[in-house]
Amino acid sequence: MHAIAIENPGSDYRLVLREAEIPQPGARQVLIKVAAAGLNRADLLQARGKYPPPAGASAILGMEVAGVITAVGEDCTLFKVGDAVCALLPGGGYAEYAVADVRCTLPVPAGVTLVQAASLPEAYFTVWTNLFDTGRLQSGEIVLIHGGSSGIGTAAIQLCAAFGCTVLTTASGPEKVARCLQLGAAHAIDYSKDDFVEAVQRFTNGHGADVILDMVGADYISRNFEAAAIKGRIVNIAFQKGAVAEVDFAPMLQKRLTLAATTLRGRSIAEKGLIRDAVQEQVWPHLAAGGIQPVIDATFPLAEAGAAHARMREGSHIGKIVLTV
Ligand SMILES: NC(=O)c1ccc[n+]([C@@H]2O[C@H](COP(=O)([O-])OP(=O)(O)OC[C@H]3O[C@@H](n4cnc5c(N)ncnc54)[C@H](OP(=O)(O)O)[C@@H]3O)[C@@H](O)[C@H]2O)c1
Repeated sequence: MHAIAIENPGSDYRLVLREAEIPQPGARQVLIKVAAAGLNRADLLQARGKYPPPAGASAILGMEVAGVITAVGEDCTLFKVGDAVCALLPGGGYAEYAVADVRCTLPVPAGVTLVQAASLPEAYFTVWTNLFDTGRLQSGEIVLIHGGSSGIGTAAIQLCAAFGCTVLTTASGPEKVARCLQLGAAHAIDYSKDDFVEAVQRFTNGHGADVILDMVGADYISRNFEAAAIKGRIVNIAFQKGAVAEVDFAPMLQKRLTLAATTLRGRSIAEKGLIRDAVQEQVWPHLAAGGIQPVIDATFPLAEAGAAHARMREGSHIGKIVLTV
């Protein structure tokens, strides 16, 4: 099969199309003929040699795909050959075939194309587990989502709005701000010109955000404390601006805040399976009904994975970038 290989891993990496062995499904696994693979920012880190795949995972990039099942392993009763599915993978998505554990595999929601389906697993697993499990977000609460125009952010805005939360978000520039409002944000803050702490406090009449999803870190760690409501929950999923910061923790005591940080990729299959079940039950009906719509920024043929990475690196994308196979 054709798959993408990383040539010269490091800051000047190149992505090239190479021949690779078709992987074989083991017990409780399915083999997917990949139609599309979602891009994630972590793929850029991995290609630079900074985010190795978990032990036992494929060295090929790609943490999510959609396609059609062509073979099933032992003990696989949930799916059969011919089913259209999407799946969260520990790696191996930038290829013509990929193996997925059934506990990380979902049927393609009704009315959703395979390109759209490839954009769903990483974003919705991440958003569900961080906001609704770890963050204990409830309907009617106020949520602040940083990086509103990102793949993660565009999913989070829609899901939180669908669950009856008031969504505040940050993004840079008028085009991204406008798109976040279209997706259901009640207020989108252009962080390149406005102070998000002041904007959140003003918009909420001093209540603050009950839950904050952060992927920025650095000075945002302290500023999130200021933007949070009493008993607020803050969840960090990345530290793009920096993981080292000088932080005054006193507001955590005064406001009785919770600060958490998590990653998805290294979790056990059993834990991912529980998230999968919740996503299928809680998110999939909204996709099938059209209340939540996948936000696709651009598609690139598999052979042009390098150009897809360049688009993400440059940073003007809104939503997800997808490779077509
Ligand atoms: N922990 C986990 O399990 C997990 C799972 C999935 C993703 N993630 C992380 O979540 C982040 C989003 O992933 P993605 O694939 O959706 O990436 P993406 O589409 O490339 O989005 C990156 C976002 O980060 C924002 N950003 C970057 N630097 C910033 C800064 N200095 N200040 C404010 N905003 C900044 C960008 O906002 P502007 O464009 O407006 O500047 C953009 O919205 C990535 O860091 C990824 O690694 C973590």
